Amino acid sequence: MTSSNALDGTPSPASPPSAGGATPGAGPKATNIVWHHSSVSRAARAHQRGHRSAILWFTGLSGAGKSTLANAVHSALFEQGLATYVLDGDNVRHGLCKDLGFSDADREENIRRIGEVAKLFLDAGVVVLTAFVSPFRADRDRARALVDAGDFIEIHCAADLDVCEQRDTKGLYAKARAGEIKEFTGISSPYEEPQTPELRIDTGGQSLEDCVDQVLGYLQHNGVIPGPAQG
Ligand SMILES: Nc1ncnc2c1ncn2[C@@H]1O[C@H](COP(=O)(O)OP(=O)(O)OP(=O)(O)O)[C@@H](O)[C@H]1O
Ligand SMILES: [Mg+2]
Repeated sequence: MTSSNALDGTPSPASPPSAGGATPGAGPKATNIVWHHSSVSRAARAHQRGHRSAILWFTGLSGAGKSTLANAVHSALFEQGLATYVLDGDNVRHGLCKDLGFSDADREENIRRIGEVAKLFLDAGVVVLTAFVSPFRADRDRARALVDAGDFIEIHCAADLDVCEQRDTKGLYAKARAGEIKEFTGISSPYEEPQTPELRIDTGGQSLEDCVDQVLGYLQHNGVIPGPAQG
């Protein structure tokens, strides 16, 4: 799993982002491409900013609270002066992934692209938070495998389906139940729960504030962000 992005910023041969292509997981289409080493290392960026970077990968059912929690954590990190950014499923589907739908293959390609983009943010020294249903374990594991151990923090927003359906913040569950949306996660498409996420958060039962504290506590404990004494 540790193919790249050591803190010294020296990528291993496997680390350059793939060139993309029509087939998810396929190798680069182009030949004659050579990785150009950055003149500033990830370690130098971390040193200048005073904190390391990480990918916080929020996963869970629609309505589980990924966007809400990711944005609340994002605000807390921003207020502490950290470089941070949210990649949100709906937003990314307006641009980078607007050519993709919700078939299994398109979901796989969607997550592949997000994994690659998140890796770039990681290298840029940013604490990047991704808020995607990302229902398939293999897709999440592929994103994890792009970076070093410790750089990928999988956060399962674990709200039960009935809670999410009751919330139905976007009215999508009602449409899915009515058969108006095909391949809707939890209804007509599977959600594969993480087996060993770094964090499992009860976003269905806990207050948002408690959920934020849980994430920040983990980041402090694992040296991603300064602890309360320093920060
Ligand atoms: N502890 C909590 N954490 C996050 N959200 C919560 C919590 N408690 C209640 N909520 C509410 O649950 C809803 C979650 O909606 P949100 O859009 O964040 O879900 P999502 O997982 O991003 O869904 P989607 O995949 O459709 O984008 C919001 O209305 C939010 O206020
Ligand atoms: Mg969302």
